[in-house]
Amino acid sequence: MTPIPGPRTRSLLGFTPRFRKNPLTAMEELKREYGDVVRFRLFNLNAYLISDPALIQEVLVTQHANFTKSVALKRAKVLLGEGLLTSEEPLHMRQRRLSQPAFHRERLKGYAAVMTGLTGEWLEKWDADSRFRNGETVDLHSEIMQLTLSIVSKALYSADVRSDAGSISEVASAMVKMFVLLTLPFSEWIVKLPFPVSRRFRAAKKRLDALMYGIIAERRKWNETRPLGAAADQGARESNSSDDRGDLLSMLLMARDTEGDGGGMSDEQVRDEILTLFLAGHETTANALSWTWYLLATHPEAERAFFEELDHVLGGRTPSLDDVENLRFTYALLAESMRLYPPAWGLGRIAKEEFSMGGYTFPKGALIFMGQWVVHRDPRFWPDPAEYQPERWLTPAERPKMTYFPFGAGSRLCIGERFAWMEGVLLLAQIGQRWRFRLAPGARIQPQPLITLRMKYGLPVIPERRG
Ligand code: HEM
Repeated sequence: MTPIPGPRTRSLLGFTPRFRKNPLTAMEELKREYGDVVRFRLFNLNAYLISDPALIQEVLVTQHANFTKSVALKRAKVLLGEGLLTSEEPLHMRQRRLSQPAFHRERLKGYAAVMTGLTGEWLEKWDADSRFRNGETVDLHSEIMQLTLSIVSKALYSADVRSDAGSISEVASAMVKMFVLLTLPFSEWIVKLPFPVSRRFRAAKKRLDALMYGIIAERRKWNETRPLGAAADQGARESNSSDDRGDLLSMLLMARDTEGDGGGMSDEQVRDEILTLFLAGHETTANALSWTWYLLATHPEAERAFFEELDHVLGGRTPSLDDVENLRFTYALLAESMRLYPPAWGLGRIAKEEFSMGGYTFPKGALIFMGQWVVHRDPRFWPDPAEYQPERWLTPAERPKMTYFPFGAGSRLCIGERFAWMEGVLLLAQIGQRWRFRLAPGARIQPQPLITLRMKYGLPVIPERRG
């Protein structure tokens, strides 16, 4: 049996301090020094960094049944319950079947209208904002985060987030901070103890549950009063009229597991799924967009090509779903940005049983770590990997599977992938028609690998009105 290479440290914590300090550079270092399969110690776990795409395919697809989600996501159950992100089989598969129709292609048109409608409102808000008018410094990341939050809220439960803005975004941002807490060892205990942060967590969760169950109860009542069969044509309806509830929540409440037990979701399951979609569906997209704007601000040629495409394809019109496939350079900007700065920078899995791959045997309980950050920058698959070259996405390239996996793969592939691509392209196009952004003098842009890849100091820019 081939021994697996890796750093040997005498410290009980092994590689943990380095990994916790900066997992991005820690992964780069491990791969550089030891190759595609590296063993290291992370807390009390036997951890392995896998950077060979063929082996990543083994873990996420071929042998996926032998793995559960990593410890951090298991801990997140305290908040997310048994939603899609955190649940395990067989529950996960049932919930996935029930949730999938909400993301079918024919539903996207309604979501696209939500996206462009809210972005239009945002653009009006920016026009009226003196910081935008006077070219003062603005944190674009925070603006985009609020916009994607309002989009996912409206797509999920048609919420008029302006009326709920205070409570929803307050609780949501409190929760995102809690998420960091939940990745710590012993977090299950920490949240129960009388620390201020734990008290805040419990209070936020209580408020959030009240909000969620309130919405679910109100909607179940509304659905009951509707004529039978009205729900079935929801997908075809435009969701921008004021009384249309063709949103994700309706789909989840109506879903029946026809391939399985024939039943639907309990209120608790709907709560878990809504909360999961709410959390998974805005920060990731906001980060992808922020990194894209940053790269555009620092690459004038790409910016010029971007504006040319917008003027050519849209000619000043608001983009719609039909435009998305014609905005090829805009798509390339997003794809290249997620290559260099993948919002999900690493994935973890725990082996249920001992298993073998690539000539190595891994023990039961092994933590398998796969870093998009590392693989997306591997010179074997990406010529000039550190260079920002959106053009590389304009011509078909023969790359092995799993050399690009910003949305994961296999049975746990991101359910919102189409939603996210569409949102990314539409928002870039709609905003780019009106604004360009210059990096503010002295701006410090640094990746911060929390649950998602954030910008440590935000994205301070000077907005300039186009045209
Ligand atoms: C650029 C944006 C996004 C990125 C990069 C992203 C990335 C990912 C990744 C990598 C996974 C797999 C995690 C794993 O295998 O452990 C995932 C799962 C998931 N994502 Fe996304 N995501 C994005 C947007 C969205 C959106 C917009 C939604 C919903 C509206 C969403 C909902 C989910 C859900 C529910 C899961 C769990 C799926 C399952 O296990 O069945 N994501 N996402």
